[in-house]
Amino acid sequence: MASRTLRFPPGFVWGAATSAYQVEGATRAAGKGESIWDRFVKQPGAILHGDTGAQACNSFDPAQLEIDLGLIARLGPGAYIFSIQWPRIQPRGRGRAREAGLDYYRRLVDGLLARGVTPVATLYHWELPQALQDEGGWASRDTVDRFADYAGIVGKALADRVPAWVTQNEPATSSWLGYGEGKHAPGLRGAGNALRAAHHLLLSHGRATRRLRAAAGARPLGIGPVLNLVPLRPASPGVADRRATSRRDGEQNRFFLDALFRGRYPADVRRRHRKATRDFAFVRAGDMAEIATPIDFLGVNYYRSDRVAAGPGGEPEVRPPDGPATAMGWAIDPPALGTLLRELQRSHTGELPLIVSENGASFRDYVDPEGRCRDPERIDFLKRHLQEAHRAVADGVPLKGFFVWSLLDNFEWDSGYRERFGLVHVDYPTQRRTPKASFEWYRQTIRANAVERAR
Ligand code: FCB
Repeated sequence: MASRTLRFPPGFVWGAATSAYQVEGATRAAGKGESIWDRFVKQPGAILHGDTGAQACNSFDPAQLEIDLGLIARLGPGAYIFSIQWPRIQPRGRGRAREAGLDYYRRLVDGLLARGVTPVATLYHWELPQALQDEGGWASRDTVDRFADYAGIVGKALADRVPAWVTQNEPATSSWLGYGEGKHAPGLRGAGNALRAAHHLLLSHGRATRRLRAAAGARPLGIGPVLNLVPLRPASPGVADRRATSRRDGEQNRFFLDALFRGRYPADVRRRHRKATRDFAFVRAGDMAEIATPIDFLGVNYYRSDRVAAGPGGEPEVRPPDGPATAMGWAIDPPALGTLLRELQRSHTGELPLIVSENGASFRDYVDPEGRCRDPERIDFLKRHLQEAHRAVADGVPLKGFFVWSLLDNFEWDSGYRERFGLVHVDYPTQRRTPKASFEWYRQTIRANAVERAR
């Protein structure tokens, strides 16, 4: 009889993830400097309901941190992804490190290690020191060196106990949403801006990778970037929609993959933005080799696929899903994860280890009168994505781990607190945590190292 479960290979890493600004709160504590998100959330209309991360999940608080570490221990993952807020370490993005900032992350890391959980530290999950933004932020080449210095500082302080590092989380989001569309901090617009920022973000990844390795000395670290790859399909078979889809694919996916794995930018993207970027004048000799510095893994954040149509002037426009979607309005498309992983291996990453560094969904979760939070949709979502991940592994994709976004409901950027992605429900006014049904399901999945077979 066929087994009812799909077992993952021994050593497969199960995890959960959060990021600093989304959970920590305490945006002014312990000498922390202002970040571009601290500034951006104050812009009228920038964030749904005017929400901010000033309190978030209060995870910076020592007592709350203990509670959250307890939840992690109960879940029992092999690893946990968190991020470090740069302005907690260097309030203005340069100069001496603040020990109070480093101490918080030391406490978090030691707390994870004491519970048998491997810490995975992300250097940049979008909180640029505002002082550096005032000098141009990621559109300025100087920020690359500031970031490498910061990587060196944090590496020196933590590399003895943090074995795995993410340099940049989602450079496509930082650049296009932050510098191109203005939906994220710092709220700037223009394709030229976005591409310039994207290049510097990629370069900062390469430089930080080298700096981290140097800071760790002989100790081997696993270092990699995280990309949010979005599989795309044309809204119709017509030529215009197909062209728009390829164009968006270039900007969202291929730009970053080709740079990291082929040491060049796609010719079509370069051609299209020749004017806005003065022919990519910001790319200097040696940059592409630095960006393509060998890495130990690639993290893939996968949430959804998108349908693309040609808007005015052929501009790609993302159309709403024509099938099931999450509360956020993102298409639920598990098979696209399997296809993405297989194609990625074939086109760019070969035998390089991959991890799904974020996967999850938001639903309108609530705690019922019995004190339970039932979220069958999330269980179903995760189960189906894990089935695809399992199939990819069986097909020979070197997928080494899977992280659920997120451990906790938290501040979801421009959507504020409306979107709940957590395995644990957070009641923000009281900061009460209620593990959802998916928490228990994931706990058992981790223990079994297996997921139920599709029926
Ligand atoms: C990803 C981000 C993460 C979270 C999820 C829902 O793009 O990395 O911070 O917002 O989306």
